[in-house]
Amino acid sequence: MAKIAFLGAGKMARGIILRFLSAGHAVAVYNRTTEKTVPLKEAGATVALTPRAAAEGADAVFSSVLDDAASRLVWTGPDGALSANLSPSTFIIECSTLSHDWVVELARIVAARGLRYIDCPVAGRPDAAAAGQLNLFIGAKGTDLEAARPLFEPIRKNIFHFGPAGTGTAFKLIYNLMGATQVAALAEAMLAAEAVGIDLHVAAQAFSGGMTGSPHVISHSAVMAEGKRGQAIAFAGRNRLKDSLYGVRLAEKFHRQSVLGNATVHVFEQMVNQGMGDCNDSELIDALRAIAGVPRPPEPSQK
Ligand SMILES: NC(=O)c1ccc[n+]([C@@H]2O[C@H](COP(=O)([O-])OP(=O)(O)OC[C@H]3O[C@@H](n4cnc5c(N)ncnc54)[C@H](OP(=O)(O)O)[C@@H]3O)[C@@H](O)[C@H]2O)c1
Repeated sequence: MAKIAFLGAGKMARGIILRFLSAGHAVAVYNRTTEKTVPLKEAGATVALTPRAAAEGADAVFSSVLDDAASRLVWTGPDGALSANLSPSTFIIECSTLSHDWVVELARIVAARGLRYIDCPVAGRPDAAAAGQLNLFIGAKGTDLEAARPLFEPIRKNIFHFGPAGTGTAFKLIYNLMGATQVAALAEAMLAAEAVGIDLHVAAQAFSGGMTGSPHVISHSAVMAEGKRGQAIAFAGRNRLKDSLYGVRLAEKFHRQSVLGNATVHVFEQMVNQGMGDCNDSELIDALRAIAGVPRPPEPSQK
């Protein structure tokens, strides 16, 4: 069994850590807000007060934190994990959704330290993390992936290997931008249907049952039609904006235009600017209603 360090105890990290513990691994967890580690300690994890303390002597150090700034801090900050005593066989595995620029830089820093870097952003919601059903988008040397493969067993549904470090993140950003664009297009289409007086429940069924019916459209059209707000956050508007900005920047870095990506950034920016950044992405429809000067329909309990 491996000695795993985990940086982060957010929605995704929690499920992944519990899967590692159930598989019999020893897990040392660090989180900026220590209170969030309490349930993990009760489940058998050790709690460390710095990323460095968590990483000391680990076989593999994983991270699942919010964004570039958080990742930079937990890896390379004053008490960062990369300042710990680590053997050259240690895997450094970044699971957060980050910018391509930062991930490529991190991979370089890790290689210069003589450690093995694996780019491992994940696809799947927190419930998929808790069920060990994540799709892993790997960018790494083939030999490093093969050596690390057993570590991924408790958390993976599928493993996709795209190429060297950075390619996992590149694909994740392309994938998430496509997903965000679908949510944005759906919110606009539902609002157009509403404007001409179509019942949104009927619209949701028709979108879901036809060629438009991607998993995003099926799940989000039902929630938009129902008009429920303030549900447990699956994917916040703020995170949609973060991922879409990183995605558009990636396209520009490789000299490709991202017309739809920029439009998607624009609508999620409007959602965040309206103070709705912590709302579910499905509530984008309310942000678009506000811009159009259309009142929100009442929630189901108030109808
Ligand atoms: N939720 C999803 O459906 C989903 C799916 C796939 C991938 N992802 C990606 O997975 C990563 C984690 O997402 P999540 O949903 O688990 O987010 P989350 O629940 O909001 O957790 C964010 C984590 O990042 C830490 N953090 C934030 N800012 C920090 C900073 N400046 N310094 C140090 N730590 C900081 C938080 O610490 P505190 O507890 O102290 O705030 C927490 O541990 C993100 O990159 C996200 O894009 C999410």
